[in-house]
Amino acid sequence: MLGELRINDRKTLVALKELGGRASVEDIARKSGLAHSAVMRSALVLSSEEIVMIHERKHLAASLNSEGKGYAEMGLPERRIVRCLLKLGGEADIGRLAEEAKMDPEIVPIALGWLKSKGWAEIKGKRCILTLNCEPPKGVDEELLELINEKGKVVVDELSPELKRALEVIKKRKLVEVEETVHRELELTAKGWNLVNKGIKIVEEVTQLTPELIISGKWRSVKLTRFDVKASAPVVYPGKEHPLQQIIKRAREIFLEMGFTEIRGPIVETAFWNFDALFQPQDHPAREMADTFYMANPRIGRLPGRKIVDGVAMVHENGWITGSKGWGYRWSSEEAMKLVLRTHTTAETIKYLATHKRPPIKVFSVDRVYRNEQVTYKNIAEFHQIEGIVVDKKVTLRDLMGTLKTFYKKFGLEKIEFWPSYFPYTEPSAQAMVFHPKLNRWIELCGMGMFRPEVLAPMGIKCPVLAWGGGLERLAMIELGLNDIRLLYANNLGWLRRTPLCQ
Ligand code: PHE
Repeated sequence: MLGELRINDRKTLVALKELGGRASVEDIARKSGLAHSAVMRSALVLSSEEIVMIHERKHLAASLNSEGKGYAEMGLPERRIVRCLLKLGGEADIGRLAEEAKMDPEIVPIALGWLKSKGWAEIKGKRCILTLNCEPPKGVDEELLELINEKGKVVVDELSPELKRALEVIKKRKLVEVEETVHRELELTAKGWNLVNKGIKIVEEVTQLTPELIISGKWRSVKLTRFDVKASAPVVYPGKEHPLQQIIKRAREIFLEMGFTEIRGPIVETAFWNFDALFQPQDHPAREMADTFYMANPRIGRLPGRKIVDGVAMVHENGWITGSKGWGYRWSSEEAMKLVLRTHTTAETIKYLATHKRPPIKVFSVDRVYRNEQVTYKNIAEFHQIEGIVVDKKVTLRDLMGTLKTFYKKFGLEKIEFWPSYFPYTEPSAQAMVFHPKLNRWIELCGMGMFRPEVLAPMGIKCPVLAWGGGLERLAMIELGLNDIRLLYANNLGWLRRTPLCQ
């Protein structure tokens, strides 16, 4: 046991023994040269080892305030006046006295009041006349002031009745503060006595292993302080990136590792790129105000070149060269020019294809999208999508499934399945699902498929295009174990602090 005691514990024990086995923390601190707080820390260690007992008593303690301290050193104002009066022959003008005593004019009336009530002098008009023929003896109030000044603090209950009365007086004169304090005493237990009687060696300890100690080999002979690595320590909250931002970064890094290049596009897009180029009919319900945020000002934007616009128009109207029948309505360029807050980042991948036709292409984006949704625990109006396309001569849906499996696996999601699905712009279409063990159900990660000929023909793309897109917040919720998506945007400081950095 003794071997595990640190130097301060040893010093505390030695001081306690020298003080007879029971002593106040203050006395131990004085004797050992340790700080009060260091003795207290040792006291806790020693008491948990049952080497000492801690006795606690609450009591009132008086200490001087700055005015009291000044008087304790210079004398009370009435004492100073009396001394001057004696010097001036026992009688003097008040003004002269104040000057002689170098006293603040505000204090003079107070001093005179006390002179009178203590019976040391009389006031006649402007004159002050001593009633004694020598300096009056020290009063109890003065004795008390000196006592407190000397000790720093006195325990009220330990004062004699006379001093207690004096304390009331100087308290009224606002020269002291009386506060409740805890008085602690340490006492050696039988085990403690046993220990100290065997003798305690004070060996200086080294708390830090320095390069010098290692190089010189001195580490062999010094005593290294033992640390309790399980002791609780203050929690620190270092600055860090928002958990969602960390996940965005990770998604980016994973795509880059897999050989993809990042693309980005504007948040405000024409309906043309958001819907028309993706063969979504102009009367599609998703286009309605209920789902899409349309811009009020500016209301419309520019369409791309004729060739592309005409291709899209014809595909919608009659299928053009694709063999499809199209939607069979008159396509409106007005409708396509309307500006929207993009509802998905597929607007960016299709736009990219309009200017990049040569395979192989592997691009991705992680970006914001907007939908006019009721905000609930699982829906928000502004969120992120992870999006990507792979263009190559012979790619198939299998390649897409493999790519997504790899992507999500790198995110730590192993149990992925692909379920058939429908999107207006892909054929075949599917959705990637992951099993969430905590929620005990399958949740959708992304939509996916191969772009239809109706999408590819107007862009002049001849190879198969694998495409997918899905919510990033979903991924974040799984990763962070959340069941309310809103927490990601709530700036809840407690949650932000508690959420660890992800690897
Ligand atoms: N854009 C679809 C969505 O927002 C996802 C998707 C992208 C589906 C690409 C198929 C191909 O849900």
